Amino acid sequence: MTTLERAEAAEHAMSRELDRIVVKSVIYTSGDRDPTQPVQRPPDQGKLYMMGDDPRLRRMPDKPSLFDFFRYRFGPSAHPLQSARLALKSGAGDKVVLACLLHDIAIAGFIRSDHGYWGAQLVEPYVDPEVSWGIRYHQALRFFPDESVGYRYPEMYVKLFGPDYTPEPYIQEAYRRAREHKWYMTSRLITVNDLYSFDPTVKVELEEFTDIVGRNFRQPKEGLGFDASPSAHMWRTIIWPTKYL
Ligand SMILES: [Fe+2]
Ligand SMILES: [Fe+2]
Repeated sequence: MTTLERAEAAEHAMSRELDRIVVKSVIYTSGDRDPTQPVQRPPDQGKLYMMGDDPRLRRMPDKPSLFDFFRYRFGPSAHPLQSARLALKSGAGDKVVLACLLHDIAIAGFIRSDHGYWGAQLVEPYVDPEVSWGIRYHQALRFFPDESVGYRYPEMYVKLFGPDYTPEPYIQEAYRRAREHKWYMTSRLITVNDLYSFDPTVKVELEEFTDIVGRNFRQPKEGLGFDASPSAHMWRTIIWPTKYL
């Protein structure tokens, strides 16, 4: 094949992929539509359904690392990077810094609702249990002040949820449980470093955390998504969010 032929073949393959029918998972569309009603599908005569790489997304490496997910699938990382940097500057240890870096990955690339729980589950097979525990409970702890470390109820939450919002009973129960736990402070320190008003001139690079991640995140040699861990399927869903099955 000449260069031109190769380019044409690639373009043809791309347009064929774009032609595939994308049916989003119920979870992505619930609320915008009533999930109990039949899904309106585009006419599918002669068309195939999406079963792999979605050409609208950047193709991920075959054996993706944690940082690859930050680069190829997660939203802007100023918030987690600056949280982690803040923790590092305060003298926090590896576990707290890593927990700060990873605390919102569910929001950044997976599912917002109950993001602390999803985030914890994603990383659980690869980190010290204290790290995933901290991530799981930071979601609840965010709603409850702790004056001993100078943590107040976030102004931002008043703006976002209104002054009368009270967390659901399961969150209050999670808070009570967390308070009693030996790792309470690990989770609490995530909330202390979890700030939204950052100095926009401060630029933090992912690479600043290469060593901490290297020491504390057991990156599977097969790549995240392909090591048959209890959360491998969740990483795969982030890689291929629009697969039909
Ligand atoms: Fe969070
Ligand atoms: Fe956060």
